[in-house]
Formats: sequence, structure tokens, C-alpha cells
Amino acid sequence: MALKLAWIVQALVAFHAYPSLGFQHVLPRNINQKPTRVLGGVTVIDTPLVRAAQAMACQYSEDYLFNHIMRTWLFGALVISHNTTLQQTVDLEVHAIGSMLHDLGLVLNASWVSHDRRFEVDSAFAATDFVEGQVVHAPEGSAWDAHRLQLLFDSVLLSSEPKFSLYKEATVASQPFGEAFVPGYSAVGSRIFDIFA
Ligand SMILES: *[C@@H]1O[C@H](CO)[C@@H](O)[C@H](O)[C@H]1NC(C)=O
Ligand SMILES: *[C@@H]1O[C@H](CO)[C@@H](O)[C@H](O)[C@H]1NC(C)=O
Repeated sequence: MALKLAWIVQALVAFHAYPSLGFQHVLPRNINQKPTRVLGGVTVIDTPLVRAAQAMACQYSEDYLFNHIMRTWLFGALVISHNTTLQQTVDLEVHAIGSMLHDLGLVLNASWVSHDRRFEVDSAFAATDFVEGQVVHAPEGSAWDAHRLQLLFDSVLLSSEPKFSLYKEATVASQPFGEAFVPGYSAVGSRIFDIFA
């Protein structure tokens, strides 16, 4: 009996030693089967919502910030497009919108900027409010369930904290990729820098 109990305890401990099991996230079927366009040499997802996010980012960001977020999106999309695992696990629309809206909290005097929260928190609320406002009457609204909004919120919230985000869903973990210039993508990478310097 004591032996059996020890075995059960060991099994439980072993199970808990792999916390990432709890975060396995299966993408909704066909979620990434959307139109694309080529931007800075990178093929990216192209939906009305992605375009609206880009327009909003452009409207509210100073040039240096807009170029930074575009590089974040394009480098991230480039890395994802070269990795089969990521292609199957990253929600590309969430990744695109998260990349482009991850610094909204840095916009001076914006209505969504608070006095007491970290800018990532303001950015995360602003990004999810933006999507909710956009899709409320749009046909694609039904595709934005609570889970995708949560993915977007976490992607933005943790975008500057890879020590946390790396242990989240692939969509969230991929958010900071754009910050790193990845060796091996230099030809396309330089083109991105040419356009969004
Ligand atoms: C693909 O991405 C996964 C998750 O980030 C990583 O573990 C893996 O090493 C990557 N594969 C390649 C070939 O780079
Ligand atoms: C932000 O608000 C402050 C105080 O109202 C003002 O002095 C400043 O010019 C504003 N900045 C921008 C970029 O609108």
C-alpha cells in the first residue's frame, strides 16, 4: 500500500514537472487560411483587421515607433514562415495585430494611457479594445472569441518580457521574435531595414 502511494506521488510529481503540457494550444482549424500580401519582401497575412491595425499604429505613432513596430511584425512573420512548428501553432492575425499595437501605451496623451500602470498594460487594453470595437458589427467578429482576445492581450502584455512569454502559447511566445535580428535572414532583413529604418 505504502509502495503504491509512493508511486502515485511520484507520478503526480512527474506530471507537474512539465507545466508546458497545460499550455498546449491547438489553433482553430483554417484560422490562418487568409489572404496574404508581400510587404518589405515578407509574405504577411492580409485581413481588414490587420490593415486597420496598421492604419491605427501609423496614425498614433511617431515615425521611429511606427518603423519599430513594422520591423517587429515583419521579422516575426519571417521567422514564423521559416518554421513549420510555428506555422502550425501561431495565430498569424493575432501575431500581426499584437506586433503593430504592442507600443500603444507609449503614445503621448492618448486616451488609453494611464498614470499608474505599466505601458504594456495600457497597450494590452488598448489593443483588445481596438479589436472589439472593430469587429463588433463586422462579419469576422465571430472569429474573435474570448480565447483569441486573451492571446492578443497576453501577447502585448508580455511582449517585453520573454522570460515569461516563452512559456506561454506559441502566438504569445513569438511576439518578441521581431526584436531579434535573426542570422540567416539577412537579405530580406536588410530590405525590411531599408523600408522601416
Ligand atoms: C521552430 O520554433 C520552435 C519554437 O520556437 C523551436 O523550438 C524550434 O527550434 C524551431 N525550429 C527551427 C528549425 O528553427
Ligand atoms: C500632452 O499634453 C500636455 C499637457 O496637456 C501638453 O503640454 C503636450 O503638448 C501634449 N503633447 C502632445 C504630443 O500632444
